[in-house]
Amino acid sequence: MNAFVADKALTPAEADGSGEPETLLRVDNVSLAFGGVKAITDISFDIRKGEIRAIIGPNGAGKTSMLNVINGFYHPQEGTITWRGTVRRKMKPYEAASQGIARTFQNVALFKGMTTLDNIMSGRSLKMHRNFFWQVLWRGPAEREEIEHRKKVEEIIDFLEIQAIRKTPVGRLPYGLQKRVELGRALAMEPELLLLDEPMAGMNLEEKEDMSRFIIDVNQEFGTTIALIEHDMGVVMDLSDRVVVLDYGKKIADGPPEEVQASQAVIDAYLGVSH
Ligand SMILES: Nc1ncnc2c1ncn2[C@@H]1O[C@H](COP(=O)(O)OP(=O)(O)OP(=O)(O)O)[C@@H](O)[C@H]1O
Ligand SMILES: [Mg+2]
Repeated sequence: MNAFVADKALTPAEADGSGEPETLLRVDNVSLAFGGVKAITDISFDIRKGEIRAIIGPNGAGKTSMLNVINGFYHPQEGTITWRGTVRRKMKPYEAASQGIARTFQNVALFKGMTTLDNIMSGRSLKMHRNFFWQVLWRGPAEREEIEHRKKVEEIIDFLEIQAIRKTPVGRLPYGLQKRVELGRALAMEPELLLLDEPMAGMNLEEKEDMSRFIIDVNQEFGTTIALIEHDMGVVMDLSDRVVVLDYGKKIADGPPEEVQASQAVIDAYLGVSH
């Protein structure tokens, strides 16, 4: 395939015409080092529109670093990120967010003193056009906008079934519910690509089942593309369409879950066989 055709294949119209899956994001030959520590070495993979893409691998494999590159938190020394068919220039996380990439964090990052409602509302900030000065000068449009945002936030609260804790400061919530609120804040951005860093870490079985259901519902009902880091293999096998496996910063497998699970390189990596 020549470069011209490859470029065209990334546009929605072309993907529709050809029946090929549309690539939403592409990572090409990305390397990232912190001083002497190579977190990511020459990694390439893509994320297709509408899929649930799992990123797995042992501790320290470079999974979180990869998400941090995708959402603009880190800038790789080498390689490119192509978002909706355009190679991305260096950008800050808020710019990535305004282009439709939202995320949750491995360690919950919420405003602990604020209520569930206000934390989720904070996810709307990028979508708010009328700022403080508007409110002072002319309350009408700002108020109308505020009402619209509140409506959207209430929809998310209903969707995640967290009505009972809407006024509770999130610092007082059990960890599993904090994770759910954090998902709510990311959903409030109405992202096209949602990055979830271990959304089920530290949860009991029931909480994991709930979170799995919400992830599937977000994918199916809102059509949101999801990239998910997860250690629980059962969850990965159940949820994901395709899996990319990292080990010591390198990609060692990429494909459908059952294929990846059977790969000798993956089995060795998880058993800690020497490299
Ligand atoms: N900000 C940083 N400064 C220095 N080294 C870092 C930094 N972030 C990550 N690393 C290193 O990069 C490597 C990959 O880390 P990363 O957090 O991406 O792994 P991970 O796959 O998410 O691991 P885990 O499953 O434990 O969350 C590790 O060796 C880690 O120590
Ligand atoms: Mg991590």
